[in-house]
Amino acid sequence: MNVFVTGGAGFIGSHTVVELLQAGHEVIVIDNFSNSKPEVLDRVRQITGKSAKLYEADLCDADAVEKIFSENKIDAVIHFAGLKAVGESVQKPLEYYHNNLLSTLVLCEAMRAHGCKKIVFSSSATVYGMHNTAPFTEDMPLSTTNPYGSTKLYIEGILSDLTVADPDWSVCLLRYFNPIGAHESGLIGESPNGIPNNLLPYVAQVAVGKLPHLNVFGDDYDTHDGTGVRDYIHVVDLALGHLNAIEYVADHKGVMPINLGTGKGSSVLDVVHAFEAACGKEIPYQIKPRRAGDIATCYADSSRAKELLGWEAKRDLADMCRDGWNFIRNNPNGL
Ligand code: WQD
Repeated sequence: MNVFVTGGAGFIGSHTVVELLQAGHEVIVIDNFSNSKPEVLDRVRQITGKSAKLYEADLCDADAVEKIFSENKIDAVIHFAGLKAVGESVQKPLEYYHNNLLSTLVLCEAMRAHGCKKIVFSSSATVYGMHNTAPFTEDMPLSTTNPYGSTKLYIEGILSDLTVADPDWSVCLLRYFNPIGAHESGLIGESPNGIPNNLLPYVAQVAVGKLPHLNVFGDDYDTHDGTGVRDYIHVVDLALGHLNAIEYVADHKGVMPINLGTGKGSSVLDVVHAFEAACGKEIPYQIKPRRAGDIATCYADSSRAKELLGWEAKRDLADMCRDGWNFIRNNPNGL
């Protein structure tokens, strides 16, 4: 298939482009490089021996998006592009709503105009909010605690409403848990701008000596060791889930939310110890107060992904830390 990937130079986007190319799909990428670099796609070509067709443009630019659909026969879309920092979204709600919602509307209007009605959307477990009890299932009530999460919820609603108005639309809402790790080549991986918000990239920067120690946000949660428990999923397993999802939207109509997680929970200290084993270094840490908005435990019930997509995560926390360390060791200043 000819697959249009928005945000295809990003962390999850680039890993998905690798798997799409290696599976024989033609890939068209739009990226404005606001949180990624063109070199990522050079490395995708190094890994696969194939090139994605790149348009450096902003997904909010309707003329640029129209040009892409006019110049390419697009069979399906995977929509990653968007601002994604939880804390930043609280400080800049207007920018998050403008960018993430407008870009989605521009994309869907161009899709409709060109008769392309198959889309896989990069959603997030954050839509399960703070009031559900893990393991999270797709039919649980949804709520959000920050503008970033709200944009994910609102986009799920926009895409769901499209399938009601026009039953020819096929929409898969992939709810990611905590993607970490990197491609085994060490050529692509997670390169956050500035001080990382998320656990694994922060631990990795401590390991390479760029940060002095990890701050563990709370050790008084009702978990096996008091620290927060999350469902960490290898980014390559996540990327492979998108291959299955593209096949799914090609064969189905309507909207389907699907969790992509391992179904296993790991605590902050589990991650620290696994990363220490992977890198052979101590990761110093200090216990700090809980971070506002955090929940104690979050992990997936991923049975629907197995049933509908024939997909399940294959890589474990040791694999994630090994591959994450391999990337940061080879790219200490990121990409
Ligand atoms: C994981 C655990 C922290 C950093 C977020 C978004 C979610 C998704 C993934 C985009 C928690 C603890 C973290 C640190 C710490 N992003 N922690 N010290 O918050 O589960 O999910 O990223 O889709 O939408 O909400 O991920 O990595 O920030 O935190 O102790 O320096 O690590 O308290 O328990 P989170 P995270």
